[in-house]
Amino acid sequence: MSLLEKFERYPLTFGPTPIEHLPRLTEALGGKVQIYAKRDDCNSGLAMGGNKLRKLEYIVPDAIASGADTLVSIGGVQSNHTRMVAATAAKLGMKCVVIQEKWVPHYDAVYDRVGNIQMTRLMGADSRLVEDGFDIGIRESWQNAIRSVEEAGGKPYPIPAGASVHKYGGLGYVGFAEEVAEQEKALGFQFDYIVVCVVTGSTQGGMIVGFAAQDRAHRVIGIDASGTLDQTRAQVRQIVDDTAELVGLGRPVREDEIVINPDYAYPAYGVPSEETNDAIRLAARTEAMITDPVYEGKSMQGLIDLTQKGFFPEGARVLYAHLGGAPALNGYSYHYKDG
Ligand SMILES: Cc1ncc(COP(=O)(O)O)c(C=O)c1O
Repeated sequence: MSLLEKFERYPLTFGPTPIEHLPRLTEALGGKVQIYAKRDDCNSGLAMGGNKLRKLEYIVPDAIASGADTLVSIGGVQSNHTRMVAATAAKLGMKCVVIQEKWVPHYDAVYDRVGNIQMTRLMGADSRLVEDGFDIGIRESWQNAIRSVEEAGGKPYPIPAGASVHKYGGLGYVGFAEEVAEQEKALGFQFDYIVVCVVTGSTQGGMIVGFAAQDRAHRVIGIDASGTLDQTRAQVRQIVDDTAELVGLGRPVREDEIVINPDYAYPAYGVPSEETNDAIRLAARTEAMITDPVYEGKSMQGLIDLTQKGFFPEGARVLYAHLGGAPALNGYSYHYKDG
């Protein structure tokens, strides 16, 4: 029985996302570990989709019930999350205010005009640039935006960064774990590991609760891209506890079931290393699978390095959760001018 039965879901995605084998990437990494991807980057027709829509599907019913007329959220300048909140607001016929903080020390000339932020503006969101730096916690700039909507006579519905510390933020990825189990039945085998990027925490946090119900949460390998590991780990822990309680998991999640690898976040959030860029190129050249320099490029780098280091035993099947994010590439044109 699904842990999510008692929760209302407002559909924003196409449905279960495809799982595909990646034979050329598998071969390029030595062929001893079979690499698969679950394509949450292709999950919706709304503004190119991505992981936030899975989360928002469980948040929207509450937003509608609250009588709100404006979704208010926050992220970096090239935030995928604020793009997805803007898309959701457009789809619901609501207004949208998003704060875009200067989370990344990055100076491509068109960084604040292309990719995510361009689409966010196209969808009619009021996108407000502020100078504050990276922090996944609750921010004053966001609280000010909520107040500004109220002062203008509107009714705001607050959605925190990454939709993560929202009461229902973890539910979508509990659903991911259940979806994988269903797909495994059809495939006739189980995955041995799941590799997933982690920053604000509710993607991996939700997965941990969902896979804990299947007694394999410790096989979810989070690859940190925040560069602020302690804060991300603490936030994942909190989301896991709150979500486990909310869905009635029926047991506490152990500390060893929360696995986060910090080795690939360098040099900083939003800044790719040479190794990240090489990982992005390898996935693109072997599988035409596009990853970005902020999130998925780092988890791809982790997947590649862990495979090459022999972390996964021979014969293992590894599922890479592709969470989206490609629009941000537009803000990094200089890095990839030669491919
Ligand atoms: C493309 C992409 N991958 C990974 C993540 C990390 O997910 P989370 O913030 O839920 O940890 C995000 C959002 O932050 C994202 O936009």
